[in-house]
Amino acid sequence: MRGKSILLIIGGGIAAYKSLELIRLLAQRGMTCRAILTRAGAEFVTPLSVASLTGETVHQDLFSLTDEAAMGHIALSRSADLVVVAPATADLMAKMANGLANDLASTALLATDKAVLMAPAMNVRMWQSPSVQRNAETLKRDGVRFAGPNDVERSGGECGPGRMAQPAEIAAAIERALAVKGPLAGRKALVTAGPTYEPVDPVRFLANQSSGRQGYAIAGALAAAGADTTLVSGPVSLAPPPGVALARVTTAREMLAACEAALPADVLVMAAAVADWRPDSIAGSKIKKTTDRVVPLIRLVENPDILATLAAHAQRPRLVIGFAAETDNVVQNAIAKRARKGADWILANDVSGDVMGGERNRVHLVNETGVEDWPDMTKQEVGARLAARIAEKLKGAA
Ligand code: C5P
Repeated sequence: MRGKSILLIIGGGIAAYKSLELIRLLAQRGMTCRAILTRAGAEFVTPLSVASLTGETVHQDLFSLTDEAAMGHIALSRSADLVVVAPATADLMAKMANGLANDLASTALLATDKAVLMAPAMNVRMWQSPSVQRNAETLKRDGVRFAGPNDVERSGGECGPGRMAQPAEIAAAIERALAVKGPLAGRKALVTAGPTYEPVDPVRFLANQSSGRQGYAIAGALAAAGADTTLVSGPVSLAPPPGVALARVTTAREMLAACEAALPADVLVMAAAVADWRPDSIAGSKIKKTTDRVVPLIRLVENPDILATLAAHAQRPRLVIGFAAETDNVVQNAIAKRARKGADWILANDVSGDVMGGERNRVHLVNETGVEDWPDMTKQEVGARLAARIAEKLKGAA
C-alpha cells in the first residue's frame, strides 16, 4: 500500500473525529491523504487538525480562488487512487446517488474517475429509512463500496446499524479496495471508439453512424479487469467509463496521432469507425450555393489506416484486434481483413440491422485458429467477454 493516495471526504457527523484516527492509520501504512472537509464536517473537526495530520491543505470550498489556482476541483477528484467518504452522511449519499453537485465534496464525487468507498454514519432510524436504503442500493449498483455501518448497542434507546465503522475497519476496507487486482492488472490497453469527423468546410463534415457504444463498453471492461486503459474517442455523446483515460479526437489523422502517443500497449482494440476518406482540402469559408446552381465537387483522399499502421508499428502491441463492420459476407470479409491489416483477431459484426447506435451486438471472433460465433448479447457483455479472452491470451506473456 506504500505510495498509494487517498482523497478523504469528511462529512458532518460526530464520527468525524474518528476520521482523524483514520488519517493516522493510513500514514502508518505508507499512504498519503488529501482531505475535503464539508461545511458540516467542519462543525465537528477543525481544518487545522485535518491539515496537521494530512500535512496538506484542506479543501473546503468549491468556489475558492486560491484552492482552484493550486488544484482545480476536477483534478482534485482524480488526484488519488481511491476516494473515501468517512463519515458518509445521508446527505452525501443522497447527493451522489442522485447526481447532485452543489459543493466541493458532492462535485468531487461525481467528477472522480476513481473507485469510491463510503463509511456511513447516522442515526439508526435514518439509516433504516426507505430513502437512505434506496440511495445505498443505487450507490452499490453504481459500484460504490461500503464499510459499515456497524451496530449501535445501547442499553436504552435505539439499537441497530448506524455507527461508523472503526478506523481500523475502514483502513482494512481501503486496503482491500486498493488490492483488487483484475486479470489484466499491470497490462496496458489502447482502445479506439466512435466515428471520425472529416471537415469539408468550417461548418460541414463527413461522418458515420457510429455511437461509440461498443468501444466504450470494451474500454470499460478492460479497465474493470485491471488494465491501464486509454480510450481514444471520436466525437460521441457518451460518458467515459470509470478508470479509463480518455483522449478526444475529431479526425482520423488526429486519432492516429493520439494512438501513437499512447504506445506502448499490450493490447490494441480498434472499435472506431474511422472514415476511409477525407476531403482533400478544407474550404476556408462556408461553401455557398451559387446562383447558377453548380454543385460543388468534393475530392476525397484516403485516410491513414490506423489499424494497419499500428499493426506494422515498431511498437506493435502484442495483441492487435480490429473490427469488421460489414453488411455482406461478414465472416469471409473478416478473414480477408485479418490478413490484409496484420491484425491478430478481428471481431466481425453485421451492421445491416440497428447495430450502429443500438444496445446489442452479434459478433464473430476471427482469430488464428478459426471463427467463433458469439450469441446475440449486449455491447457490455461483448466487452466483458472480449476482456476475458484478452486476459486469457496475455496470461503468462512477459
Ligand atoms: O477496412 P475497414 O474500415 O472495414 O476496417 C475496419 C477496422 O479497421 C476497424 O478495426 C477500424 O477501427 C480500423 N480502421 C482504421 N483506420 C481506418 C479504417 C479502419 O484503424 N482508416
